[in-house]
Amino acid sequence: MAEVDLTVNINGISCPNPLIVASGPPTLNPNAIMKCFESGAGGVVTKTITYDTMQQLQPKPRMHVLNKKDAFAGKFYSFYSIDLMSEYKPEKWTIFLSNIKKKMKKQRLNGALIASIAGRSYEEWEKLTDMMASAGADAIELNLSCPHIDKDGLMGRAATSSPEVVKNIVKIVKENSSVPVIGKLTPHGANPLELAKIMASAGVDALVSTARFQGLVVDAEALKIVSWGGFGGYGGPWQLPISLAWTAHIVNENLDVPVIGSGGIASGEDIAKFLLVGAEAVQCCTTIMLMGRETISKMISELKNWMIRHGFTKLGDFKGYIIKKGIVKTENLNRQRIYSFSITQKCIGCGICVRVCPYNAIQLNSFKKARINMRKCDNCGLCLSVCPQDAIEMNKRV
Ligand SMILES: Cc1cc2nc3c(=O)[nH]c(=O)nc-3n(C[C@H](O)[C@H](O)[C@H](O)COP(=O)(O)O)c2cc1C
Repeated sequence: MAEVDLTVNINGISCPNPLIVASGPPTLNPNAIMKCFESGAGGVVTKTITYDTMQQLQPKPRMHVLNKKDAFAGKFYSFYSIDLMSEYKPEKWTIFLSNIKKKMKKQRLNGALIASIAGRSYEEWEKLTDMMASAGADAIELNLSCPHIDKDGLMGRAATSSPEVVKNIVKIVKENSSVPVIGKLTPHGANPLELAKIMASAGVDALVSTARFQGLVVDAEALKIVSWGGFGGYGGPWQLPISLAWTAHIVNENLDVPVIGSGGIASGEDIAKFLLVGAEAVQCCTTIMLMGRETISKMISELKNWMIRHGFTKLGDFKGYIIKKGIVKTENLNRQRIYSFSITQKCIGCGICVRVCPYNAIQLNSFKKARINMRKCDNCGLCLSVCPQDAIEMNKRV
């Protein structure tokens, strides 16, 4: 395979490639973290470290896959879980971190070891920062995104209901950290762009866009909430375009803070999508959980292949390409009816286009072939998009 340079430096956090394993079960203890590095991860974020004992005790059961057949067939699925924070005390994590660093050195493994923390008071945020940075973490990530923490807290998404609290946490952690600080954004019940602005102005060195949503999955037949019986984190590959949009909004804002894209990544091309909208690197959790750690090196190879196909030799060759090209603003959208749609020989007369056309512009003729009345057609494109035979063509009118 031709050589491509995947190295990235995120405001002082240097990684051999842009794929960082996000905080979660794939990073729950030193063994798991080492396996991620051995599988080629550019960085690893620990499971969130906290002093909150209730957050260290995991509900059982707590993980549920919706559409499991689709998940393993490479299609859309949802992952629903109430995995809380690390079961290990912060003091134990200081030993874990320094041991991981030693092992990485011995095995000549490169990669950023990032400690995810969550304090219940400003004093705890300060203490956790100092402990993890002193133990050898290359960066600190602030868990201001966990969807399970609803109110009255200084951590998880509860903290994000107060801009003042977010600002204070970032400032305290920054003042006490000898290493870069990453703010992780929640997309749930908050405006990630506003949060990004607050975190950037308070001094974070990087942002993660974004964590998961909160969901509630009800089994209507059983008349109950599935699995553990409460609200849970809800995500999956379907989330990618939403996180991508927030990433683009944040990058467009020119906050001068690198963005790490996250949410729904399942392939090397997905990594490329985040970099194309200006992310510096990415984080991934759910795919690695379900497809195994082999998927880390698989996604990196896919990214390399994609770069080679497009003639890129380093990440900077395409980072932010989509943003530079421009995302069309609503006021500049094309409103002219300049296309003509035609039905090709491939039509089998299934009638789906007839059913979906909002303008009643399509009918089946006596030979059971679709026919479009261009006087009625509004160029909305729905028929083209749903046709199972790809039997509809769109051309500029002459
Ligand atoms: C089971 C599970 C446990 C998670 N635990 C944590 C955590 O302890 N701390 C944290 O900041 N994020 C946690 N996350 C969120 C992930 O780090 C990540 O932000 C989110 O899942 C979106 O990425 P993905 O779509 O690649 O999974 C967890 C996610 C899952 C699925």
